[in-house]
Amino acid sequence: MDSKELIEMLNSDFADEHAAIIRYLVHAYQEGEDTPMGASLLSRSREEMWHMHWLGMIIGRLGGEPNFVPGPYPFDPTSRATMLKSYIDYEEKLIPHYHGEAGKVDDPHIRRVLHREAWESAIHARRFQRLLDKLSPEAAKSLPKGGYELPPPFLETLQAELNSKYNEMLQHLRLSWLSQKDASKAWALMDQSMEKMKQLALFAEAVAEDGSAPLMKPGSINAGQAMELVLRKALGDVREALGRHTKLQGDAEFKKHAGLVMKMDLTVQQEAWQAEEMEDWLK
Ligand SMILES: [Fe+2]
Ligand SMILES: [Fe+2]
Repeated sequence: MDSKELIEMLNSDFADEHAAIIRYLVHAYQEGEDTPMGASLLSRSREEMWHMHWLGMIIGRLGGEPNFVPGPYPFDPTSRATMLKSYIDYEEKLIPHYHGEAGKVDDPHIRRVLHREAWESAIHARRFQRLLDKLSPEAAKSLPKGGYELPPPFLETLQAELNSKYNEMLQHLRLSWLSQKDASKAWALMDQSMEKMKQLALFAEAVAEDGSAPLMKPGSINAGQAMELVLRKALGDVREALGRHTKLQGDAEFKKHAGLVMKMDLTVQQEAWQAEEMEDWLK
C-alpha cells in the first residue's frame, strides 16, 4: 500500500471514530452525565476520542490532511434498547475491519494501533451489551426526555455557540496533529483543544438536557493554508467567542441558569488566557 492509499484508509477510520464520538457524546448528554447510562456513554466517547487521536497523529506524521467530515453512524432511534443494539452492531463490525486493515500495513506502530482499535471495539460491544442487559423494561422501551423549556431563540444561540466551539476545537486538533515537528507547540495546541472540548460541553449539556440533540457540523478547516495564517484565524475565533460570551453573560435569559452562569465565568477567563497565549506564539 502506498502512502496516499494508507492516508485514505486511515482517514476513513478517522471519520468513523469521529462519528462514534459524536453519537455517544450526544446520547450521554441526553441521558445526563450524572446518570449511570450517561456516565458510561461518556466514557465510551472519551475512548473513541483516543482512537481518533491516534489516527490523527499518524495521518499528521504521514503528511496527510485529516478529514473532519464524520462518517455515517446508522442507529435505530426508537428506544434506548434499539439504540444500544445499533451501537453493538457498529462496534462488532469494526473488529474484523480493523484486524483486516492491520494485516495490510507494514509499519509496526500503525499495525498495533489498528489491532488496538479492533480489540477496544470488541470491549465496547460488550460494554454496550451489559448496559442493555441492565436496563429496566421501562427504561429499555423509552427514550431520555427533556423538558423543552428553553425559549427557541435562546436554544438557537446555545446551538450556534456549541457548534462554533466544536469548530474551534477541530481546528486546534488539526493544527496540533500537523505541528508534531514542533512538539511544544503541538502540546500547547492539544491542551487548548481539550479545554475547548470542556467549554463545548457547557452549551451541549444545556441543549441536551432541554431535549434537543446538540448539533455539531464541521465547517471549513483551512486545509492547505500556511500554519501561521490558520493560527491567526484561530486567535480571531477565540477573541470573537470571548466577545459574544461576555455579551451573553449580560443576557436576561442566560442569567436565569445558575449552572451556565458559573461555567461561563470560567470559560471567558479561559478564552482570554488562550488568546494571550496564542498572541505570544505569533510574536
Ligand atoms: Fe473506536
Ligand atoms: Fe468503539
